[in-house]
Amino acid sequence: MSQQAPDQAHADKLVIHNLVPADLQSSFAEDLRAGLSASPKHLFPKYFYDELGSQLFEAICLLPEYYLTRAENEILTSYADEIVSEVSAEKVSLLEMGSGSALKTRLIIEALLKRQEQLLYTPVDISATALEQSSRVLLQSYPNLRINAYASDYYDGIRALQEQPRGRTLALFLGSNIGNFDHEEAHTFLHALRGVLKKDDALLLGVDLRKDAKILEDAYDDALGVTAAFNLNLLTRINREFEADFNLRAFRHQVFYNEELGRVEVYIVSKQTQTVSIPRLEMEIRFAENERIHTENSYKYDQTGLSQLASATGYTRTRTWLDEREQFSSNLFIATGEG
Ligand code: TRP
Repeated sequence: MSQQAPDQAHADKLVIHNLVPADLQSSFAEDLRAGLSASPKHLFPKYFYDELGSQLFEAICLLPEYYLTRAENEILTSYADEIVSEVSAEKVSLLEMGSGSALKTRLIIEALLKRQEQLLYTPVDISATALEQSSRVLLQSYPNLRINAYASDYYDGIRALQEQPRGRTLALFLGSNIGNFDHEEAHTFLHALRGVLKKDDALLLGVDLRKDAKILEDAYDDALGVTAAFNLNLLTRINREFEADFNLRAFRHQVFYNEELGRVEVYIVSKQTQTVSIPRLEMEIRFAENERIHTENSYKYDQTGLSQLASATGYTRTRTWLDEREQFSSNLFIATGEG
């Protein structure tokens, strides 16, 4: 039997809508201009995920210090059947924001396919490459899966989802991605997502918990230096796409657990006084010694915070599952009457 080319093999089961604007480069340019002229300097985390960045993130998930992925995997391995049985319908459709490699999603897909013949999976991810690769692998594994994917940032994705008819929906937002929003943004995001759900639809929210500072800082500053590479890759990307001359050896990775705000803060630090030029933006950027670019926050929650987050955004937190070491939480938010 001859084999079909992989991209044709699933042609009838896979649609990938590319909503990443053609002028992404110009919004990246604007964000760069604004972020690097600001004081303190900052850059947006969505720009981490170019092709190398996405791969480095996959590597982060395998690091001994980065317990989050393993803990969430443990929870889903133990409880996926229980989780999907909490969603009250004969036929459920699966939605995922920021699906990445969709490895953890497999556990939920398998649990759903034990209960229903067919499954529609709608992943939204900023990386079209990640969507293509993960979709191909999923369709090879699950013949009864159909995928309708959106390569898009979260909000354009949510806008597009409004037009998509779906039955009872289980939405996934895993990996503590919610932690990368500050509290106000988390509210805005969950409320916007609530807008594409109907009453009694469910959201499974993966959230990292507050804990000892040392464990948290190690998770974002591993001994191998993979997270450092992931963070500094932002500068590589700017060098490549804007002909900038960041000398990567003159910057370093820094993390700090801000206990008061309950967040891990991630920075790129200039090791020396230096000027970097970005010809395509016609910019020269001066750095003082030890001056920082803020690149990411990762907020950690506790149980009270999670219930408040749910009720403030149109959901009730009905169940929470923890891993054995109680480091991470998977929370079931059910959409209430008032969206
Ligand atoms: N959502 C991940 C988290 O907050 C993203 C992440 C992991 C990350 N390691 C990082 C972001 C290091 C920036 C730098 O855990």
